[in-house]
Amino acid sequence: MENESVIKTYNLLDDNTIDNTIRPESIEEYVGQTDVKENIKVFVEAAKMRNEPLDHVLLYGPPGLGKTTLAFIIANELGTHIKTASGPSIEKTGDLAAILSSLEPGDVLFIDEIHRMPRYIEEILYPAMEDFSLDIIVGSEGNSRNIKIDLPPFTLVGATTRAGDLSSPLRDRFGITSKLQFYTIEELRDIIKRTARVLDIEIEDDAAVELAKRSRGTPRIANRLFKRVRDFAQVKGNGIINIAITEEALNRLKVDSIGLDNTDHDLLLAIINKFNGGPVGVEAIASSIGEEVTTIEDVYEPYLLQMGLLKRTSRGRIATDKAYEVLGINKK
Ligand SMILES: Nc1ncnc2c1ncn2[C@@H]1O[C@H](COP(=O)(O)OP(=O)(O)OP(=O)(O)O)[C@@H](O)[C@H]1O
Ligand SMILES: [Mg+2]
Repeated sequence: MENESVIKTYNLLDDNTIDNTIRPESIEEYVGQTDVKENIKVFVEAAKMRNEPLDHVLLYGPPGLGKTTLAFIIANELGTHIKTASGPSIEKTGDLAAILSSLEPGDVLFIDEIHRMPRYIEEILYPAMEDFSLDIIVGSEGNSRNIKIDLPPFTLVGATTRAGDLSSPLRDRFGITSKLQFYTIEELRDIIKRTARVLDIEIEDDAAVELAKRSRGTPRIANRLFKRVRDFAQVKGNGIINIAITEEALNRLKVDSIGLDNTDHDLLLAIINKFNGGPVGVEAIASSIGEEVTTIEDVYEPYLLQMGLLKRTSRGRIATDKAYEVLGINKK
């Protein structure tokens, strides 16, 4: 039976393996972000023509919009290697020094969550980014000296969900800064269709559009919902993803018609019911719904702002008229 063999194949591939297979590897496969892509193409081309490393790149924007993916694509387009690290995992200056001195000429060093790097480590990066040199102190206290090591020319690609948290000396050392935007429904539909193609699963057009509408403008969410809908299609249907299965699955997953989940609803309902529609500080919202302030600011708010459901003012957050409408609540 065909259906059975499909299920068996996928049992062997866990979600992480699937994530790696569906991650685009070239700039042509990377859907959307047209301006960012066009610029990067030009800068990469120019760097290659001059036989120089690409200038340092800072990518920022909400989670799941493709920062890590783009960093790998940049290295691919440059035809170089990529080494990766993440801000919070670099605890000692020696950790960073070790990574920097392992680079080959032209390599890309990708530092994820770069805003979470401690300041004293950041300072090692300044001369490294500017002059490709590593200034470190060796020896014990009382008997220490500064040494300067030349590094090969490299490109630092930093990613962050909070560009505002970066210190300005660090921010200023990036020659290229790109903000990733939420994706349109058409772009998300194309990402979903591409994922379906790569995983060899059939999805009908209207189902792909419905999934796209409910993906909060975010490829990671689109792919995650796709995988869950695929499960429903395999178990409850004939494996083909159609609109009926998609709607049933998404409703069960408590994703509403514009992609809001339970936490989004709780957040807006808290502002409306407990704080009279706002303005209310983010700390008060956080404690009332039991979420971290940073999670609200980084994960939930950007999309709610983009959708015009929430407004940020100097006195706090306000639920907009559209939020009342979407939640079906009469404004008093
Ligand atoms: N432009 C795109 N085209 C196609 N697929 C994409 C695109 N951007 C992201 N994706 C898919 O979405 C997934 C999430 O992207 P990625 O991990 O690059 O996001 P991120 O911005 O680094 O998120 P985080 O801030 O959480 O680190 C990727 O695995 C990839 O499959
Ligand atoms: Mg990432």
